[in-house]
Amino acid sequence: MTREELNKRVFKGFMAEDEADRLYEIAREAARFGPCLEIGSYCGLSAAYLGLGCREAGGILFSIDHHGGSEEQQPGGEYFDPELIDPQTGRVDTLPLFRRTIRELSLEDTVVPIVARSEVVARCWQTPLSLVFIDGSHAYDAVFTDYSSWVSHLRPGGFLLIHDVFFDPAQGGQAPRCIYQLAIASGLFTELPLVRTLGILRRVTPERMNDVERDQRQRNAVCPPAGNTVPRDSPRVESPVPEAGPS
Ligand SMILES: C[S@@+](CC[C@H](N)C(=O)[O-])C[C@H]1O[C@@H](n2cnc3c(N)ncnc32)[C@H](O)[C@@H]1O
Repeated sequence: MTREELNKRVFKGFMAEDEADRLYEIAREAARFGPCLEIGSYCGLSAAYLGLGCREAGGILFSIDHHGGSEEQQPGGEYFDPELIDPQTGRVDTLPLFRRTIRELSLEDTVVPIVARSEVVARCWQTPLSLVFIDGSHAYDAVFTDYSSWVSHLRPGGFLLIHDVFFDPAQGGQAPRCIYQLAIASGLFTELPLVRTLGILRRVTPERMNDVERDQRQRNAVCPPAGNTVPRDSPRVESPVPEAGPS
């Protein structure tokens, strides 16, 4: 399966083709240096592209979702899809379709599903990551929790990808934009061009760490949402991993 063949397939999901193409390209670059991780598997659209990139690089994608759907995917919500209701429980369940997507693309040995809330998985996660893609719940608390829980696991040179970054509030919710700007304000990331609403940041490499620590003290975090959770910890400036990140 090539990316061109993937583009001909129709998936349930929330991602434009050029965004998905970029996920594939970045995963293919990042996966050479360590595992990749996404939050928000849904029915497997982003996992297909990230997974294909990982497979070509001989890497792995961990894909986290509780598979019960986000707030707006519940009955009555803007993105509710009745085909995703489990007839036995009457609840949204995207796991069967996600598994089918992965199976049909022969990605079972590349994409590792983790069926749980991301914050639960993060509690005992220890493996450095070369890519983190945040596309789970878009509620403020959840987005900030995903950011604060996962960013510290990104190795220097690793990629932080954030979906649904809208600069115009009329176009979409602002929580992803807030963590995107928070990450930039931390000084620990360099910005790469956005693709539509896909924010692309790269964690700085060890040589720049000292500069970053100094700059970080002079910067203020932006966009703290009133009455909402402030990230528990900004990205840590931890000891660099021995090998350089993706170049
Ligand atoms: C916008 S959809 C993801 C779309 C997907 N990336 C795609 O390409 O189509 C958000 C997904 O995040 C999941 N989700 C919401 N909150 C979550 C949490 N706390 N932990 C894990 N998954 C969560 C939902 O179940 C839903 O499937």
